[in-house]
Amino acid sequence: MMKNVDKLDPNWRSDALNLALDYGMQTIAVRAGQHRTDEGEHSEAIFTTSSYVYTSAADAAAHFNGDKTGNVYSRHTNPSVRTFERRLAALENGERAVATASGMGAILTMCLAYLKAGDHLLAANQLFGSSIGLFNNYMAKFGVEVSYVDCFDNEAWANAVQPNTKVIYCESPSNPLAQICDIGFLSQLCKANDILLVVDNCFATPALQRPLDLGADVVIHSATKYLDGQGRVLGGALVGSDKLMQEAFTVVRSGGISMSPFNAWVFTKGLETLKLRMQAHCQNANQVAEFLVNHPNVSAVHFSGLSDHPAHELATRQHHMTGGYGAIMGFEVKASDSDLIVVIRNLLLGMSLIPPKWFLSLII
Ligand SMILES: Cc1ncc(COP(=O)(O)O)c(C=O)c1O
Repeated sequence: MMKNVDKLDPNWRSDALNLALDYGMQTIAVRAGQHRTDEGEHSEAIFTTSSYVYTSAADAAAHFNGDKTGNVYSRHTNPSVRTFERRLAALENGERAVATASGMGAILTMCLAYLKAGDHLLAANQLFGSSIGLFNNYMAKFGVEVSYVDCFDNEAWANAVQPNTKVIYCESPSNPLAQICDIGFLSQLCKANDILLVVDNCFATPALQRPLDLGADVVIHSATKYLDGQGRVLGGALVGSDKLMQEAFTVVRSGGISMSPFNAWVFTKGLETLKLRMQAHCQNANQVAEFLVNHPNVSAVHFSGLSDHPAHELATRQHHMTGGYGAIMGFEVKASDSDLIVVIRNLLLGMSLIPPKWFLSLII
């Protein structure tokens, strides 16, 4: 039985909810969380509505004061957003997901939900730049102590834990050097010290890796990346236990960091093809990495799919898709800074563009 079923919610049909990981991932990706209206539509409808109507003033009052469950306002809940949340939660094997307006919205929600002044946030030193900016410029401003450790050095992680450490935060694979963190080790460290382990899984996706199964408490997504996969919309999500997600949900609802129904629908459709796309991305990336590693003008390739990469064995163990190491990699060329521009220009199919389309090659 799928864990993230709200039994009190009358709008969801149980036949679309009885899915768990004993079904194949592709089945979950097309079925979990489906909300079918009385029109009997085959594909999920988009509920572009800000608010909802009730049968009477008493019915409205019951919804607003919490005596009845159901939608009251789309900053709080929306059927299209709920479908995406339920499908993603099922794919990540979590009890519940909370969608946000962007990946950074999910990371901000994590900070506001699980940290307060005086707490310590311990993060990997290989992180997306905006996450570092949020931690250093804003969390620090509100009294949260922030420090960073080498993401691949387990001893350094253990030594950096303080009595006030409340969250350990990492990306695996990381942006942009595709570094891998030992999620199982970090989970043990967190459990021994009463710390939450939060893993940004946006470059692996549940097609490759499920951090909750490896012991993480919360998974973060920039859905903008592979969950959509086609560069169309911005969005994010957190996934974890009902209790932790309820704390995140109240932040999203109060702060207005909510996902739009249209974007949620696009992500729901994106999840349907996620596994196939990730398989293709990984196969292509493996070939590109082999090409680069044998190129005379390339001095280093940062990609855990290469058998001599220090994290190759760990990534092979952590990723459940065979041969799936993701499609993000870094490489260093034997060139001066001015020659680098020429290198990028000569990569005809690479695009030095932000925001990227995720099915096109991207060089940044
Ligand atoms: C690893 C990682 N996490 C989070 C984000 C932020 O996501 P968004 O751009 O959807 O806010 C990004 C964006 O590139 C990212 O690469």
